[in-house]
Amino acid sequence: MRIALGADHGGFELKAFLQKFLTREGHEVVNVGVDAPQPVDYPDYTRKAAQAVLSGQAERGIMVCGSGVGACIAANKIAGIRAALCHDTFSARQGVEDDDANFLCLGGRIIGSELAAEVVRAFVAARFSQAERHVRRRDKVLALEKEGRAQRP
Ligand code: RB5
Repeated sequence: MRIALGADHGGFELKAFLQKFLTREGHEVVNVGVDAPQPVDYPDYTRKAAQAVLSGQAERGIMVCGSGVGACIAANKIAGIRAALCHDTFSARQGVEDDDANFLCLGGRIIGSELAAEVVRAFVAARFSQAERHVRRRDKVLALEKEGRAQRP
């Protein structure tokens, strides 16, 4: 799978680990940065990773900031992105199977690298179930996204 991978300064070390992990697992990584400890703003790199997904350059996105929270908030503001903040494998798998998540957020200051790799593996291996109830609920989320856009001044 082609996976866009981004981080801010709070997540770049875990991102580097995950890039090697994903490559070893046979995936193609689109690295959108950042690759250094100098402080940057997580919305900028979240946008880059999200754009890679929306343009079709990548099928899924992963973003690592300090806690994963800021990246997840930012990603879910971008139409077409369904981001999940997961630090356990159950949520990472079910977030895709039930909720059609296409973007994973992780906290580089929260989770160890080995567990993060397991979470990423679960996220990447999962597929949306297409079950009628999950399609209905996902479509209601998409309707919320549309309503939000329509209400913009
Ligand atoms: C940066 O210090 C930090 O705020 C950021 O990495 C992230 O944790 C935000 O949620």
